[in-house]
Amino acid sequence: MRVMVVGNGAREHALAWKFSQSNRVSGLVVAPGNAGTLELGENLVDVLQDDVDAIVRVCVDRKIDLVFVGPEGPLEHGLVDALAERGIRAIGPTAQSARLEASKSFSKEFMVSYRIPTADYRSHSDAHELEAHIRGTSHALVVKKSGLAAGKGVIESDDRDLLVNAGKRFIEEGDTVVVEERLTGFEVSVFGLSDGVNHVILPPCTDYKKAGVGSKGPNTGGMGAICPVPWLTADELAAIRSSIIEPTYRGLADANLAYSGILYFGIMVTEDGPKLLEYNVRFGDPEAQVLLPLITTDFLTLSNAMIKGEIASTTPEVSPHSSVAVTIAAPGYPSEYPQDLEVRSLPRSGLLFHASTHRDGSTIRTGGGRCFTAVGVAPDLLAARNAAYATAREVAFEGSWFRPDIGGRIFG
Ligand code: AMP
Ligand code: GLY
Repeated sequence: MRVMVVGNGAREHALAWKFSQSNRVSGLVVAPGNAGTLELGENLVDVLQDDVDAIVRVCVDRKIDLVFVGPEGPLEHGLVDALAERGIRAIGPTAQSARLEASKSFSKEFMVSYRIPTADYRSHSDAHELEAHIRGTSHALVVKKSGLAAGKGVIESDDRDLLVNAGKRFIEEGDTVVVEERLTGFEVSVFGLSDGVNHVILPPCTDYKKAGVGSKGPNTGGMGAICPVPWLTADELAAIRSSIIEPTYRGLADANLAYSGILYFGIMVTEDGPKLLEYNVRFGDPEAQVLLPLITTDFLTLSNAMIKGEIASTTPEVSPHSSVAVTIAAPGYPSEYPQDLEVRSLPRSGLLFHASTHRDGSTIRTGGGRCFTAVGVAPDLLAARNAAYATAREVAFEGSWFRPDIGGRIFG
């Protein structure tokens, strides 16, 4: 089968790497891809990941059998719907279902309708009401941009002025703002694989979302991840399944939003039990980079099972090992950062996924804020962590940095 992966991040490099291990994949293209995916298949560098028409055209021309959509943007823009019209099968939700991620107001309404525990909230599109709500509330709050924001649309602060100003800015930009109670606890990401009727889940991960050591500082797209999560108890996981995951899939069927693909549950485990922070309608980045190396089932078989309604009989097999991912970022990220930095050295061995890199003659150059993910897989968390950091330390470009404490502290 001929497979296309859409995207250019480290998650998409990991997806392409996983597909490349299947001896049933006869062709692999990545649109647009990066310098890492170039080693595995063909990059379509001129095809922008949000250009639905261009992707559909290329898939028809190249007789692509299966498309795996990495990022949320093309899903929100209806890529899966457009491919379906041409009879091309894709992993991912329709634009309708993608609203579970693309609109936080929509997803909060969904959670409330199906009694899925989540933080109390109100949506605002009026700046005065927003300000009155924030200033009139005494408990801790979080302000969120409703639309997609690449992990940077959530403001957590005790400073009411800062929350009001951030919320007003989102409204000025034309978006709705969700103001919700700030939950405390520890976060886990759980991924469901569904075929439109049945679903299975992968082992829980933790994403280290904050830029600073000790999980301080601003939110990022994710500075590292681990899988599994040693401090999540079996009882807590059972509560996540029964109070969040099962009601969600029942709700999706009830609301005609069921789809073939990945659903990401971003969960805060609080003293009052697990609460759902958000849905994403795709694999997380860097969670994909820790999960995919642990999956031992042929990835094309697994992907086909999601599309053909066979996920219940194709439960993914997962290695009992631990996996740790460390994101290597550009100087300044998650604020302003330079691009096109020359990568001076790369590891000779170990698992390294590229993000937005490109080849410039014999040189590899950076493109984004998160530039690489180094991954270690080993029988235990400590050994996996050591392997990931050994690989991360061998990546060198001007001002490169990574969090030194991934997997080393409880509670992400
Ligand atoms: P989201 O995009 O909704 O997942 O938010 C991104 C990150 O912001 C989450 O992973 C949490 O770290 C944080 N966050 C979001 N909502 C809340 C909340 N209600 N309470 C505490 N932290 C939150
Ligand atoms: N790791 C969080 C995300 O992919 O949104």
